Amino acid sequence: MSAPRQLFVTTALPYANGKFHVGHIMEYIQADIWVRFQRMQGHHVNFVGADDTHGAPIMIAAEKAGQTPQAFVANIAAGRKPYLDGFHISFDNWHSTDAPENHELARQIYRGLKANDLIETRTIEQFFDPAKNMFLPDRYIKGECPKCHAKDQYGDNCEVCGSVYAPTELIKPYSALSGVTPELKHSEHFFFKLSDPRCVEFLEAWTQRVDANGKLVLQAEVANKIKEWFSVRTNADGSTSEGLGDWDISRDAPYFGIEIPDAPGKYFYVWLDAPVGYLASLKNWFAQGGPKAKHGDTRSFDEYMAAADTEQYHFIGKDIVTFHTLFWPAMLKFSGRKTPDNVFVHGFLTVNNGEKMSKSRGTGLDPLKYLSLGMNPEWLRYYLAAKLSARNEDIDFNADDFMARVNSDLIGKYVNIASRAAGFLTKRFGGQLTQAFDAQGAALLHDIRDAADGIAQLYETREFGKATREIMLLADKVNAYVDQNKPWDLAKDTANNEALHQVCSVLINTFAVLTRYLAPALPELAKAVQAFLGVDMQDWHSATGVASITPYQHLMQRVTTEQLDALFEAPEHTELTQAAINSVANELPGGETIAPTISIDDFAKIDLRIAKIVNCEAVEGSTKLLRLTLDVGEGKTRNVFSGIASAYKPEELVGQLTVLVANLALRKMKFGVSEGMVLAASHADDKAQPGIHILTPWPGAQPGMRIH
Ligand code: 2FM
Ligand code: ZN
Repeated sequence: MSAPRQLFVTTALPYANGKFHVGHIMEYIQADIWVRFQRMQGHHVNFVGADDTHGAPIMIAAEKAGQTPQAFVANIAAGRKPYLDGFHISFDNWHSTDAPENHELARQIYRGLKANDLIETRTIEQFFDPAKNMFLPDRYIKGECPKCHAKDQYGDNCEVCGSVYAPTELIKPYSALSGVTPELKHSEHFFFKLSDPRCVEFLEAWTQRVDANGKLVLQAEVANKIKEWFSVRTNADGSTSEGLGDWDISRDAPYFGIEIPDAPGKYFYVWLDAPVGYLASLKNWFAQGGPKAKHGDTRSFDEYMAAADTEQYHFIGKDIVTFHTLFWPAMLKFSGRKTPDNVFVHGFLTVNNGEKMSKSRGTGLDPLKYLSLGMNPEWLRYYLAAKLSARNEDIDFNADDFMARVNSDLIGKYVNIASRAAGFLTKRFGGQLTQAFDAQGAALLHDIRDAADGIAQLYETREFGKATREIMLLADKVNAYVDQNKPWDLAKDTANNEALHQVCSVLINTFAVLTRYLAPALPELAKAVQAFLGVDMQDWHSATGVASITPYQHLMQRVTTEQLDALFEAPEHTELTQAAINSVANELPGGETIAPTISIDDFAKIDLRIAKIVNCEAVEGSTKLLRLTLDVGEGKTRNVFSGIASAYKPEELVGQLTVLVANLALRKMKFGVSEGMVLAASHADDKAQPGIHILTPWPGAQPGMRIH
């Protein structure tokens, strides 16, 4: 046999500021199926992941949570295991981009780029928040859209009219962190000179590489898209694209990241050190002695990375192609390292034809809820395998389709082969199989074994959907053989014992081969089958026949509509149902009866106005109150105390619009006078159902507008 391939495989490193959503799990399952397939071929795989810990959003989230960024990301990391174990993702190592290996490697790579004269500094103008004493990332600057004048739009694009602009073009910009008007300040930034002819030439060649058959190495749709980024051209909207631009790789303190060597107060932009985290996790895996223990590999990390036969693959989503096909290969190349062999790009996962599983809003199918409902992780693995291809295209999780594929295909066609044969073998033949097959059975088994190379090729090229279809077609053939030979009829007359024995033995042998074909997607099921049949399910090439079986135990349950209904039940509904069980009072809407009827004139007495929260701060001496400074369009601001401190941090509210009872009598309080009341929703029983939710108007409402 030829020498095993040396494969270094990663998935994109998730930001350490949130839980995994099903989009992450899909990527991990895709990579894991490929990795398990490679391991079954006898290849040596190092499969690693890590948390992507740096950057302004994580720093700000940690501050909001009242934690150091280190403690914050450690807390997120501690929550990863139930997902990874739960869905049988076989990472060899899980690490962190804030680990010492990453600090060291990122600096080494930077020094390499610098030595190659590919780093330069330039002074840029950027918004600075004087209250927070920091430069503001575009996301944290808001203001009025310069095109359509919609208020409260982000610094880089308008969500109302869709136009794209620089934060400096915003009208009346304000900091989304403090609410204050930002100042334009100069700062020295570090740039990676991607426009250098050496980089351009290398990247054009790297991204458009072809294999020995003249086929693009990157997925064709990915390579073709990248081609556009190199050309100078006029876009549809009349603007021009300049070809490859230099990349701003620095951020100013305060920043949670890696300090740039010899540049105090300057940090690497998170995307510089994030992919370096792949190497850091692998290096840490080497430091643990992992490759030696698993594959007898005694090389150092550096030797492994420099070896000609080490192949490096990254599984990523389509939103981060630029980073992985331009910046990352160039960083490696010009710091004197080998470049990745390939980047495998997948599309997004939608759920029930719904929204994109975006990073910020991964709703729809909660992976932990899936597991907590007792749903089998291998149903999802199989389903996703059945839908995935080598193309960068979106796929949809559809509940009905899921049920059909799991119950009809996986269980109906495949698992049932074993259950149909095993009972007779155990009861009638002491669990022993015959090797003397009838001609039809021998031919069937031969055909099924013969498919191994074709299916292997489909796994190799990540055509998992085609592989599962192929396997199900083989299962159909086996089921046709069952229907023709009718073991249940044969069993009626002991004169047919030999035929019954042969048919059932053929069935169990075909089942063993099919299980091996499905093992990359169904590793736990394959383990159970290995115990049941006593043959190795991890060796793709094994030709050992089954000699005997242990009594059949259920291998897999069917998915039920109740489980799927519960999975997609909205969380609020789940909570309400629970609360309704707990308390009779909760049968009332919001926990209280509707108030007595009033006339429209009564209602008109209440003057409700849109108010903008221009400032918000904690109230010393009160754990309940926040002090709000409101703009109601009166040319002056109002001071209002509101009992919402348990639900909101002051900085979350600054810049938001809400609703004010504007004609409420002034109220003198211990901390000052309150000039009105903001509206908020809560349940009457705030112990059973805690939570306060302030009201915000739909976009377009302006401070001072009356609510009718
Ligand atoms: O887009 C993301 O979620 C990033 N955290 C991915 C980083 S991948 C790698 F470069 F670390
Ligand atoms: Zn606009």
